[in-house]
Amino acid sequence: MQRIIGLIFVLNFLFAEVWAQTDFYRPLVPIKCNSVQKCPKDWPCCSPYGECGAGPICMGGCNPRFSFNETSCAPMPALVPPHNIEYSSAPLSRLDGKEDTAQLVSRGLQHFNKYLISDVQSDAKYMLENIAFTYSGPASIHPQTGDIVLSMPRGSSGCLLATTRYFLYGRSSVRMKTARSRGVISSVVIMSAVGDEIDFEFLGSDLHNVQSTYYYRGELVYNKMVEVPVFSDTNANYHDYEIDWNEHRIHWLVDGEIVRTLYKEDTWDEELEIFKYPQTPMRLEVALWPGGLASNHPGTIEWAGGLIDWDNSPDMIESGKFTALVKSMTVIPYTNKYISAINRCLQRESNIAYDYIMPPGGVFDEMSFALYCGLIPNIGKWSQSGSNIPRNPIQVARLSKVSTLVNTETDFVQNINDLASLPNGTVIYNKTQQTSLSTEIKSSSASTMVQTNPIMKLKRLVSTFCESQ
Ligand SMILES: *[C@@H]1O[C@H](CO)[C@@H](O)[C@H](O)[C@H]1NC(C)=O
Ligand SMILES: *[C@@H]1O[C@H](CO)[C@@H](O)[C@H](O)[C@H]1NC(C)=O
Ligand SMILES: *[C@@H]1O[C@H](CO)[C@@H](O)[C@H](O)[C@H]1NC(C)=O
Repeated sequence: MQRIIGLIFVLNFLFAEVWAQTDFYRPLVPIKCNSVQKCPKDWPCCSPYGECGAGPICMGGCNPRFSFNETSCAPMPALVPPHNIEYSSAPLSRLDGKEDTAQLVSRGLQHFNKYLISDVQSDAKYMLENIAFTYSGPASIHPQTGDIVLSMPRGSSGCLLATTRYFLYGRSSVRMKTARSRGVISSVVIMSAVGDEIDFEFLGSDLHNVQSTYYYRGELVYNKMVEVPVFSDTNANYHDYEIDWNEHRIHWLVDGEIVRTLYKEDTWDEELEIFKYPQTPMRLEVALWPGGLASNHPGTIEWAGGLIDWDNSPDMIESGKFTALVKSMTVIPYTNKYISAINRCLQRESNIAYDYIMPPGGVFDEMSFALYCGLIPNIGKWSQSGSNIPRNPIQVARLSKVSTLVNTETDFVQNINDLASLPNGTVIYNKTQQTSLSTEIKSSSASTMVQTNPIMKLKRLVSTFCESQ
């Protein structure tokens, strides 16, 4: 996703941006948002940490449930097959620039408060196509190895990398060295805007195990954690951590071995009659954060192994900061129930965005989305929100639509195996009907035959990108 050629261009508009920004995007006195209190009109967007803001807070991670209204959060740039996201480390070269920020941008990483914040459409399109990750906190590139260095100096709140695009099912892989010492947490997590989450959490006080867990819509149920051993010290050695998530099951993998599996069918809630299974579009996030801060909840401090020792921990003595190193990150998206509309869109446009449709009763599932084809979800200024983005629903997938003839402009397909095509190129998902309609078409006229067979295209996509499912 990264293109070196755009470096100078990006730098120019980034620095212009810094001087042009005079507004703040968070109130000086924090405003909380949660299930009983939505954000106010002036600070309409609810962050993943439950605080209201505007501009960049309305982009990645913006929680539509607790924001001012249903258009406050910007639509989420989508990662769909055949595209993927990749960061691979390579040593710095002369082209990478001297500043940390320039090096990061040249490798497709941008600070989250700049990403898609521009009223110049061409700049926004450039960011959408070239920036694969946002970061917050002190991130940098290691000059010799090219690893991304996540740092946590004294008293800071750490560092977070997140993919700019959301995927609904896919395989995420991270090769990294975690941070060490009591109270210091490293995480590899995929997380959705409404709090679905699949995690690896590493305690700096235990470098031979990793905790795997998941959450459904942010419900704090703590009995889902399973601890698994890692073959060698996670701070001294690189290991591969992967989350392979499809609509039926989740695999957690360490160094290529499946260490845990969760099946959707095992998450059925008898009372609510829903699957409490992560099923909303996710971003991959890699983080270094202080679990052992005196101001944290006592339960969090205890879980983190105790308070951080900012004076005597070896990394504080050696370099004045805790660090985690990321050698590579990859996300390969899988297909989902929207594949028919996605594939249709990809024939004209590569930019697709998901947007939440508020479901009745507030139960989000994998069908609670609108799909926008060709939308660039940019916000002009820090004071604005997703409500300023003109949504142009060329293709909208809807939960309630029941039809046997598939209109690929507006419908999603329940099950890829149910698809069939008519001789005139129309896609249907009723095989019984296929026979009678086909006969009908042949007898009436042969003039409407079309050359492309959409079914074949869909199958190709599926076989290429879902082979590990
Ligand atoms: C949401 O709020 C904005 C103001 O922030 C307003 O312009 C917009 O019309 C509202 N949308 C809906 C669907 O109520
Ligand atoms: C193909 O045939 C079906 C069934 O008769 C019809 O509904 C559909 O509109 C036709 N599509 C085209 C492109 O002619
Ligand atoms: C499929 O089409 C047949 C014939 O038109 C019809 O009897 C059947 O109910 C349809 N099935 C579904 C699931 O719509």
